[in-house]
Amino acid sequence: MSIIEAIKARSSNGIMTDAAVSPEKIKQLLDAAVCTPVHHNTKPWRFLVIQGAGRQLLSDIMVQYYDKTMPDSEESKAIALRDKLSKKPFRSPIIIAVAAAKPEGEKAIMRENVASAIAACQNILLAAPALGLSAFWRTGSFMYAPDTASALGFKEGAELVGLIYLGHPKREMPPKSRETSEAYVRWLGQMTETIIS
Ligand SMILES: Cc1cc2nc3c(=O)[nH]c(=O)nc-3n(C[C@H](O)[C@H](O)[C@H](O)COP(=O)(O)O)c2cc1C
Repeated sequence: MSIIEAIKARSSNGIMTDAAVSPEKIKQLLDAAVCTPVHHNTKPWRFLVIQGAGRQLLSDIMVQYYDKTMPDSEESKAIALRDKLSKKPFRSPIIIAVAAAKPEGEKAIMRENVASAIAACQNILLAAPALGLSAFWRTGSFMYAPDTASALGFKEGAELVGLIYLGHPKREMPPKSRETSEAYVRWLGQMTETIIS
């Protein structure tokens, strides 16, 4: 499959088995993840691989955020929502939390570290099917809360950019009908007849 075909064929697939994902596959995915463009060579990608019982920490963080931010919810509704939230990390056997490190030095800027970490997320999504895995990207306001990155052990100043859920698909997804770009593009200048190299 060409890279263009792989990009077009990618789609989120949350219907996964509980089967473990081998550490070798995770390493392959992460090695692909760090092949991003990066300005000032800051190497900003940071990953936490969350699996098995480790998923409980993420569940606790989600529920604590809910309790903090929704204190006035009607009780029965709140219990149902809390329960739903607490189960989310158990939708897949592996979750990779992806963060951008705070830049050091004067030149590098956080926005570009974030850009590179986001590209790492997309690399994982694109690499996963090549290893027989499915993947989807989740965030949510709890993820952007100031305490979440540190609760997951990332260093001070790191910003989470995604939670990538990974596992073996229970079934293949039918191909998605994808947009074409025309509606989002403007062109400036005209194509010259001769391109001087
Ligand atoms: C940065 C980012 C965060 C996202 N967070 C969520 C999320 O928290 N919940 C959700 O349902 N979809 C979220 N999405 C969208 C899905 O991951 C997915 O891309 C979307 O449903 C389109 O499906 P596709 O990946 O098959 O094209 C997020 C996408 C991005 C790029």
